[in-house]
Amino acid sequence: MNLTGNTILITGGGSGIGQALAIKFAQLNNTVIICGRRQNKLNETVEREPRIKAYCCDVTDPLDVDRLSRQLQADDYQLNILINNAAILNYYNFSKPDEFKLDAATLEINCNLTAPINLSMALLPQLLRHPHPHIINVGSPGGIVAISPSPLYSASKAGLHAFTQVLRLHLKNQARVIEVFPPTVETEMTTNLPRKKVSSEQCVNAILDGLRKGKDEVWVGEGKVVRMLMNLLPPAWVFRLVNSQPSMQVK
Ligand SMILES: NC(=O)c1ccc[n+]([C@@H]2O[C@H](COP(=O)([O-])OP(=O)(O)OC[C@H]3O[C@@H](n4cnc5c(N)ncnc54)[C@H](OP(=O)(O)O)[C@@H]3O)[C@@H](O)[C@H]2O)c1
Repeated sequence: MNLTGNTILITGGGSGIGQALAIKFAQLNNTVIICGRRQNKLNETVEREPRIKAYCCDVTDPLDVDRLSRQLQADDYQLNILINNAAILNYYNFSKPDEFKLDAATLEINCNLTAPINLSMALLPQLLRHPHPHIINVGSPGGIVAISPSPLYSASKAGLHAFTQVLRLHLKNQARVIEVFPPTVETEMTTNLPRKKVSSEQCVNAILDGLRKGKDEVWVGEGKVVRMLMNLLPPAWVFRLVNSQPSMQVK
C-alpha cells in the first residue's frame, strides 16, 4: 500500500491509536479526516497536527453517518481510505446478571461491529470512485481468542473479523480490505488493564510497516503470539491458556 497521497477517514481519531494514526498519516502527506463524538478530543488532535480536518460524528447513529458521508462529498474530498478504528470496551461478569446493562452492551456491539459495517457500506461508493480504495478495520487479538473480562468486546471483534474476511472476498478486484491487530496499547481503553503496554506511536509505526508490505492482516507485537498459538494448538487450549493469566480474572 502506498502510504502517501491518500485521502483517509479515521473514526475515533480524537485519542489513542486513532489519533496516532491520524498524525502519522498527515505527516506522510496524506489528507486526513477524523471523526468522534467529543469535540474537545478531536480539537486536541487538530492542535497537534493542524492539517487534520475533524468532524463530530457518532458512528453508531445512522443519521450522523449519513450526514458525514454527504459532508465529505460536499467538501469535495477524494476519499480513498476508510479506517474503522472507533471502539468501546466494557467489562462483564456474566455470573452477576443483576449488574448487566443492556444499553451499554448494545452500544458496545453497535460501535465495534454494526458501525464499521454501516460506514463501509455508506462510504463504499465514494471510495470506489478514486484510485487505490482501501477499507482498514482495526480488529483485536481478543476477537480471535475470546477474553473473559471483556466478552462483548471479543464477540464484536470476532464479528468484525468475519465481516472483514467476507468483505475482502466480495470486493476482490475492487478494493483492498485489511485488518490490523494491535497488541495491548497504552490508551483510554486500557486504563484499567493491568498489563504490559506499548505506546500508540510504537503500535502505529508497526501498523504502517505492515501496510507498506501489503499484508491483508497486520499483526503487531504480542498479538503475533496469539496468532502463532492458534496455528499450533487446538483453539480450546489457547482459550484456556490465555484466560488463565492473572490479568484475565473477572471481578
Ligand atoms: N488499546 C489497545 O490495547 C487495543 C488493542 C487491540 C485493539 N485495539 C483497537 O484499537 C482501536 C482504537 O482503540 P484505542 O485503544 O485507541 O481506544 P481509545 O483511545 O478509547 O479510542 C477509541 C476512540 O473511539 C471513539 N469512539 C468511541 N465510540 C464512538 C462512537 N460511537 N462514534 C465515534 N467515535 C467513537 C472515541 O472517541 P469519542 O468517545 O469522543 O467518540 C475514541 O477516540 C479500537 O478499535 C480498539 O478495539 C486497541
